[in-house]
Amino acid sequence: MTFNLSTQSSLAQVYLRELRDVEIQKDRLRFRHNLERLGQILAYEISKSLPFSHQEVQTPLERTEISMPSEQPVLSCIMRAGIPFFNGFLSYFDHSDCAFVGAYRGRHEKDFTFNVELDYVASPSLEGKTLILIDPMLATGKSLLKAVEALRKLGEPSSIHIAAVIASPEGIDWLETRLPQADIWTCAIDRELNEHFYIVPGLGDAGDLAFGCKTEA
Ligand code: URA
Repeated sequence: MTFNLSTQSSLAQVYLRELRDVEIQKDRLRFRHNLERLGQILAYEISKSLPFSHQEVQTPLERTEISMPSEQPVLSCIMRAGIPFFNGFLSYFDHSDCAFVGAYRGRHEKDFTFNVELDYVASPSLEGKTLILIDPMLATGKSLLKAVEALRKLGEPSSIHIAAVIASPEGIDWLETRLPQADIWTCAIDRELNEHFYIVPGLGDAGDLAFGCKTEA
């Protein structure tokens, strides 16, 4: 199932607007901070769908019951653009184990198609765990699918959530077909991918805006 936060008015739209704004996004610190804030908001939204159980707490006055998460999800950061967004999740799920996946678009063909390259995977066992994959731009969906395939070799998660700031309809279709058991959480679904497989209207290159332009090795 896909959950789109922009179907309701909330502060998420304020931070998303700043991320998209070609002038405001020049402020790198603010850009990273807004990705982090949206990570916190989506962490809170996803938390509502996780299993909770009652626990007791002793206040200075008496014992009382409170509903607590039954388990901590494993947070998987898709580097590099995912880092600030992931930090937002980690500041809410502050006891979570974390996985890291280095994913990037390989050499482009003449028609701009590309293969996704994964060159770094570090993860705890995922057997029976709730896995949250954190990548701000769900464009083609190929890097997320490849990340899930690599992570599944480290144990089969009990549930999979995919968190994005902006998703394309094409990327959502791709993942819904190939990973029907996963829930997708996004702050907006944009119109389409352009010929370079960038989301439009989108916000540009999230990794470059957060950390600076890359150069070819
Ligand atoms: N990655 C980005 O940073 N932006 C896009 O539009 C698509 C992928």
